[in-house]
Amino acid sequence: MANYETIQFTQQAETGLIKINRPKALNALNLQVLSELGKILDDIDRDQKLRALVITGEGDKAFVAGADIKEIHELNPDKARAFAERGQKLFRRLEVLRIPVIAAVNGFALGGGCELALACDFIFASENAKFGLPEVSLGIMPGFGGTQRLARQVGLARARELTFSGKMVSAQEALAMGLVNRVLPLSELLPKVFELTAQIATRAPIAVAKAKETINTGIDLDLDSGLELERDGFADLFRTQDQVEGTKAFIEKRQPQFRGV
Ligand code: CAA
Repeated sequence: MANYETIQFTQQAETGLIKINRPKALNALNLQVLSELGKILDDIDRDQKLRALVITGEGDKAFVAGADIKEIHELNPDKARAFAERGQKLFRRLEVLRIPVIAAVNGFALGGGCELALACDFIFASENAKFGLPEVSLGIMPGFGGTQRLARQVGLARARELTFSGKMVSAQEALAMGLVNRVLPLSELLPKVFELTAQIATRAPIAVAKAKETINTGIDLDLDSGLELERDGFADLFRTQDQVEGTKAFIEKRQPQFRGV
């Protein structure tokens, strides 16, 4: 993996960990962070051994406090459109990555930070985490997918309330509205996420990837089209050796040895 200034990449077993690393600016996403995140996704795309990706923020205060407001201040309509497109495309790449991506939200997840977490497959949060889309308090609106993904995640009415008010909600409130899957003490956040990704890493990689793709594509389809997609995916997996191994291992009462083929 290449060297980065505004992000750190480390690996624990088969799980990659990206830390957004601008703690003095509460890990705000400036153009350099966006560019480095794009490059790390290129590296991750090439790495066939990684089985899950975790994204978190450096320090104990912020996951990501949004896009960098100093850079946003300088934008005009054309540049703003290009800026939003850049963030949207990056987060979309993350969303469709073949491996599961988990947001470990360790503090403020505001604006672009909340949108980054929403582009992950799901969110685990620390007790001190705070979520919100405060853009309207800056005279702007969410631009990295927040107007679309928050409503899909928590429902239209809750998404409207958060977006129009710009207010923050606690980790517990986020849990109650289905925005986060689990709330943990900060010290347990990454260990518990890694526990889960270690479990994911024992499963058949092509099956996990196909299930991810089918869920993500199917959510925007009508039910019959989604079910057709599921049939196709289910059938496709019967071309893999892991399908033979997985079912055989069950019958032979042993652990499967998946090889991702
Ligand atoms: N951009 C740039 N710098 C930021 C930042 C951001 N989004 N958020 C925080 N910082 C900087 C502050 O300017 C400050 O820097 P200095 O020490 O140089 O002054 C440093 O981080 C620490 O922040 P605070 O002193 O404000 O810390 P606090 O504890 O008093 O408040 C906070 C924390 C409530 C999160 C507050 O920093 C805040 O409201 N931040 C902005 C949140 C926000 O509006 N995010 C949305 C951005 S727009 C967006 O994301 C658009 C989009 O959809 C793509």
